[in-house]
Amino acid sequence: MVAQLSQSSLLAWYAETKRDLPWRHTNDGWKVLLSEILLQQTQVSRGIGYWLKLVERFPTPQSMAEAEVDEVLHLWQGAGYYSRARRLHSLSRQVCLPLSEGGYDGVLPTTSTQLLLLPGIGPYTAAAVASIAFGEPVACVDGNIRRVMARQTKTANPSVKEVEHWAKRNLFKADAGDWNQSLMELGATVCTPKRPKCDDCPIVLSCSGKNDALSYPQPKTTRRKRLDLMCELRYDASGLPLLVQRGENGILAGLWGPRMAEQIEVDSLRFIGEVKHILSHRDIFVQVWLGTCQQGLDPETLALSSLDRKVLALGSRQ
Ligand code: ADE
Repeated sequence: MVAQLSQSSLLAWYAETKRDLPWRHTNDGWKVLLSEILLQQTQVSRGIGYWLKLVERFPTPQSMAEAEVDEVLHLWQGAGYYSRARRLHSLSRQVCLPLSEGGYDGVLPTTSTQLLLLPGIGPYTAAAVASIAFGEPVACVDGNIRRVMARQTKTANPSVKEVEHWAKRNLFKADAGDWNQSLMELGATVCTPKRPKCDDCPIVLSCSGKNDALSYPQPKTTRRKRLDLMCELRYDASGLPLLVQRGENGILAGLWGPRMAEQIEVDSLRFIGEVKHILSHRDIFVQVWLGTCQQGLDPETLALSSLDRKVLALGSRQ
């Protein structure tokens, strides 16, 4: 027999051992929103620096709404998943519209239902922000919480609905923000994918899967996708590279970089090497070809991805 999940044990563990993360010192909805959007796809350790830069430059929705999207992309450089930055900028503009035009007069709405209607906000972010910043008793579900649920209930392949149901049933309504964060924190630091530290777990008594934790949830066997690109890296006489801004869609949407495509014409170009770039869902291999151009641009003044910077680093070593 396993025990009931002990809310008080998990909350006490969280109060005592939680990481000191900068966004845990604020209950400003906008700043919490920035942290949750960053943490959707960026590791906590890397997210901290980006969050500090973002809240300093854009302390309010209005300050971002008044800026150009390129400035947000520039601050976002290196964090990946740039569509987040574009949608965040459009969210800030929507929030700053007058009430009569469907906006919120510059004040972030406080309920998960309203947040969910804004650009870039899915069920996870809406529930996380509403519970953490505004105390709404709503459960959130992310990959960490799914893993904790799969192990607690010994479910190999829980569906979204099952995880949501479990999260709702176990929610500590009097402090949903700390409760949601304590589950995520447990998943991030104790109930980890590869080396769970069950001896340190405050809710091990209610864990049905602890004797075979690595089987829950069942590891995904999907093969990573490989993308092969060719890059035309051209420099002008003063050593500046030719850079183009990419369109609104695609992997590096809106960012600047040397031209890349699956096929390019290489007649007047020289092959200088390959750059490998690993994203969470695919491996990108870029063949880099060197050439000349009339007029380049200064990459320091533009938003480039880490992949583009690797390509430029290869070029500068020639
Ligand atoms: N991952 C995403 N948001 C988090 C939070 N607020 N606490 C812990 N882990 C998180």
